Amino acid sequence: MRHATPGLHPPSPCRAWDAAGARPGGPSSVYDAGSPTVDPAIFGSKAAVLGICYGLQLTAHLLGGRVEKVDRGEYGRALLEVRADSPLLDGWAGNARQVWMSHRDTVLALPDGFRGLAITDTCPYAAIADEARRIYGVQFHPEVVHTHDGSRLLRNFLFDIAGCQPDWDPSQVVEQLEDEIRHVVGTRKVFFFISGGVDSTVAYTLSLRALGARRVRGIYVDTGLMRKGETQFVRDLFSTLGGGDSIHVAEAESHFLAKLDGVVDPETKRHRIGQEFLEEQNRILETEHFLDEEWILGQGTIYPDTIESGGTAKADLIKTHHNRVEGIQRLMAENRIVEPLHNLYKDEVRQVGAQLGIPPAFLHRHPFPGPGLAIRCLCAAEPGQVERMDGGWLLPLHSVGVQGDSRSYKPVLLMDLPTGWPHAGWEAAYTRATELINANDRFNRVVLEPVPGGISATDCAVRPATITRQRLHLLREADALVRQVCADSGFEDEVWQFPVVLAPFGVTEAPDSVVLRPIQSVDGMTAQSVGMPVALLQDLCARLRALPGIACVLYDLTHKPPGTIEWE
Ligand code: XMP
Repeated sequence: MRHATPGLHPPSPCRAWDAAGARPGGPSSVYDAGSPTVDPAIFGSKAAVLGICYGLQLTAHLLGGRVEKVDRGEYGRALLEVRADSPLLDGWAGNARQVWMSHRDTVLALPDGFRGLAITDTCPYAAIADEARRIYGVQFHPEVVHTHDGSRLLRNFLFDIAGCQPDWDPSQVVEQLEDEIRHVVGTRKVFFFISGGVDSTVAYTLSLRALGARRVRGIYVDTGLMRKGETQFVRDLFSTLGGGDSIHVAEAESHFLAKLDGVVDPETKRHRIGQEFLEEQNRILETEHFLDEEWILGQGTIYPDTIESGGTAKADLIKTHHNRVEGIQRLMAENRIVEPLHNLYKDEVRQVGAQLGIPPAFLHRHPFPGPGLAIRCLCAAEPGQVERMDGGWLLPLHSVGVQGDSRSYKPVLLMDLPTGWPHAGWEAAYTRATELINANDRFNRVVLEPVPGGISATDCAVRPATITRQRLHLLREADALVRQVCADSGFEDEVWQFPVVLAPFGVTEAPDSVVLRPIQSVDGMTAQSVGMPVALLQDLCARLRALPGIACVLYDLTHKPPGTIEWE
């Protein structure tokens, strides 16, 4: 709704909201004291209304329906069956359609005047309407890419039901962004901490165009938490883009590793890394004489970063991004920051990059998180044993999940191999994983040991571990191996991102395991786990297990939600 809303000039009033201004999938229950609400007068105002997720529940609740917390949640993929014709679902009839869900509360009785339009296995009112009053609701998320053709539903609502007119013109975006940069920077100069990722490179290149090379500097901090070969890649890239002379590489591995010494908690890792970035920044500003008021900080922050850091008015904290720690907040408060991409999703950033002439192969590079391999190198303070439970083994490894807007930090389920695996294929494995996760609150992620052999995961234990040079080296090697295999086979084109995680889960002679997390996404806000061709996976697992210190290889079957893309 973000683009559509500011760019629309509705001839008649129109309201599409989620949790009274909160992001869809919010953690609130309509019955909680203080949970978000709207003025019920909205429903009598003749405005067309679309409630999404919590918005549907709130609509039902305020108008006299019944909402209840039911036994089974619905997180991630669900199949929707359209049961009635409606302008909202125009073009959606026919076969069951994949939609993306994130809820446990469910509407069980509709208010007067409403009828159900669609169902899923667990949701009797997945889409509802009171057409006479132009009030609609959907329990799923039409705004995310994993809901197939969700944009059609949004167009139906905005253009056909509410009567809005579009005026968003992507071909004008580059000029608008350059104007915005010139406006924010004024007569000052801007420096970027570039990472070699798409976002900071596009933001930097836009600024070069808007302000000219003499007013823009790029500093690349080599944190020691980067992937194999990354620093050389960045040097080469910026020479190609013509900003080579304005790039400075700061070697800071020993500072970052010292800050992370003994740290286990993921949020503490992020904060320490964020703080160290700021300290590095200060050191560089001093040595380069950039402390002068005439300089401001430029960043490649994109829209999902802002939401997931609790940057929107009502969203709860899911993860703290390194670019939202205290020092950066202060620079923002002093108006010494420019974030030209703050309103764009990843796919839009790539479109802007293409218009700027950045090579397509670079723009389709997989995203990589700012805190680097540190958040893929899991740590543990205490030892832990696996525990048998229905459907598999509970591993005492913790990972971050996202259910509604709430952040969870829970153990992982190692699912029993599904019947007929691997010949039965991935679909059976994903169906089983989704069933298990929807039925049980004890874990937020499901993994598989897809190629048994050598040390079995059920013989492994969690072992206390922190971030060390050796573990980072091992992770870097495992990651490089996965990237190589994926590039050679073409599998890298099938996925949006492929985190490789090192977990302190093994046996004495091989204390760590590797988790493979290939996902498909468009903007990182939601994601679908992707199954690799089995022959490729068998080869990859054999090669990973041959690395010294690796016990076993696990495959993450969790979609987002309920699991985040990264494990921390
Ligand atoms: P999650 O794990 O939140 O990831 O589902 C969504 C996307 O964001 C990336 N990510 C980060 N990027 N700083 C970043 O610059 C961070 O702290 C951070 N944490 C996650 C992640 O790789 C994925 O693309």
